[in-house]
Amino acid sequence: MRILAIESSCDESAAAVFDNECGLLAHEVFSQIDLHQIYGGVVPELASRDHVQRLLPIVSRVVEQTGGPAQLEGVAYTAGPGLIGALLTGAALARSLARAWELPSIGVHHLEGHLLAPLLEPEPPPFPNVSLLVSGGHTMLIECRGVGDYRVLGETRDDAAGEAFDKSAKLLGLPYPGGPQLARLAYTGQPGRFNFPRPMLDRPGLEFSFSGLKTAVLHAVRALESPRDEDRADLAHALQEAVVDTLVTKSLRALEDAGLDTLVVSGGVSANRCLREKMAVAAARHGARVYYPRLEFCTDNAAMIAVAGHARLAAGERDGPGIRARAQWPLSILRPPGIL
Ligand code: KG4
Ligand code: ZN
Repeated sequence: MRILAIESSCDESAAAVFDNECGLLAHEVFSQIDLHQIYGGVVPELASRDHVQRLLPIVSRVVEQTGGPAQLEGVAYTAGPGLIGALLTGAALARSLARAWELPSIGVHHLEGHLLAPLLEPEPPPFPNVSLLVSGGHTMLIECRGVGDYRVLGETRDDAAGEAFDKSAKLLGLPYPGGPQLARLAYTGQPGRFNFPRPMLDRPGLEFSFSGLKTAVLHAVRALESPRDEDRADLAHALQEAVVDTLVTKSLRALEDAGLDTLVVSGGVSANRCLREKMAVAAARHGARVYYPRLEFCTDNAAMIAVAGHARLAAGERDGPGIRARAQWPLSILRPPGIL
């Protein structure tokens, strides 16, 4: 089955064509970074307006590159969670194309897309596994027994890991989106000069809390009065170490609790080099194997939506009447494909 997938949940407009026999045939992502940069964050109304302009040309290109609409057997799109206006632009386009081409369509859960992104790799992770999903909006540990069979083991009580990177980056005067920039700066920082708390590490369980970290960074910045570049780099290093240590320790604890030795790390923050390095060392000590999406599929893309949408369309799942998108959509209510 060959399908078209569309992603528009936040500030990336993306489309992909995926075939279960040939794999990923085409994909394209347009990032709206330049549009939102001057505001220091994503402006939802501007995101929706830009998706309306960008999506159709992107979709046309990936469909034409792969032989045209006649080759397609379904359309998948991100139906939530995310910015509601942005989601509706992708949903409306996907549903309209499906109707015009007389194809079935399915709304996909964005986080299920992130969880299944590593299935696009030549050596996909096996089920069951423990997945650490770390993005700008979410930080979760999930026991994945199969596609659609997810048990949330723990999540953040406040800020997500990506938010901790982004908000701290802003305090350090780095331009939006700060996460990757802070990570780059951290590599030039001096270890040990600052030491931030590892939130929730001293408590049992698998919950996270990152909101205190940005406050710690704020106090440290204020105490310096006029921070120099070296100070910023040292602070970035300390922030990254605190977030990464917390993610690594809790992931290993989750593997232990679940009695599993396969760890999957996905979402935007899974692109972080320090996280990958520290996780590799800890997992080797534990005898566990870690799987990631390739770097371009860590952050938002439509290839991951295609994988999740394909599993559901192939099992006979279909959209109901009307166009539905959900700003909030708990992952825990999903069921395996075909079981509604
Ligand atoms: O998955 P994603 O593209 O969007 C959401 O669904 O949220 O994740 C974006 C998040 C942002 O917070 C961004 O700063 C963070 O991932 N991120 C990183 C890195 N690359 C992206 N954080 C730390 N280090 C990176 N290399
Ligand atoms: Zn995402």
